[in-house]
Amino acid sequence: MRRINIAIDGPSAAGKSTIAKRVAKELGYVHLDTGAMYRCIGLKCRLTAIDLDDEAMMKEMLSQTEIELTADGKVFLDGKDVSMDIRTEESSMWASNVSTRSVVRSDLVSRQQKMALAKGFVMDGRDIGTVVLKDAELKIFQTASVEARAKRRFLENQAKGMEADYEAIYRDIERRDYQDTHREHSPLSKAEDAILIDTSDLSIDEVTAKILKLAYEAMEQ
Ligand code: DC
Repeated sequence: MRRINIAIDGPSAAGKSTIAKRVAKELGYVHLDTGAMYRCIGLKCRLTAIDLDDEAMMKEMLSQTEIELTADGKVFLDGKDVSMDIRTEESSMWASNVSTRSVVRSDLVSRQQKMALAKGFVMDGRDIGTVVLKDAELKIFQTASVEARAKRRFLENQAKGMEADYEAIYRDIERRDYQDTHREHSPLSKAEDAILIDTSDLSIDEVTAKILKLAYEAMEQ
């Protein structure tokens, strides 16, 4: 069976990373959570108070930024473990803000494309099927209602011992949905050849099984 690349796109908190991780594990592939990369840049911009509109400074900052995603799900920014820091609601908004900047997008897209040359990647994000891996052998657009997504994020935060306010999470998801789908550069949209999966009423196991079936079919083509 040939090695393929799998693109999973969709709105915030649709469970893309959870599913992508599971699918990658089953296939012995590498999972790349591209949202974590935007979160790292958002965190760095917040901490350094850099002017997001200063393209030259942003370019310089990007050229000096190292992001490492480990196989066990840890995220390192310039050598520091930021796995928890990048997951707060404030960091989510910063990630969404920096992701509107073309200078950030082109830098991260090129890093992602270089990594995926080897094939055997399950990449999740917003623009994987439409921009990063236009030629991915399997493209999924994974979505769920705002209610289902807010409920999942609420339970997830609670389980992690993080602050959990359902109403605030719901509003934040709505705000990010708007920003991610209305931005000028690579707005979130379903690739024409992506398969739509609405996970509102599906379990993690059911979604994983669906995607694995599609993956094995794509590998055999
Ligand atoms: O998937 P996530 O919630 O961790 O992503 C954080 C933000 O990064 C999200 O609001 C949109 C942005 N993003 C993006 O623009 N393109 C990607 N490929 C991944 C994430």
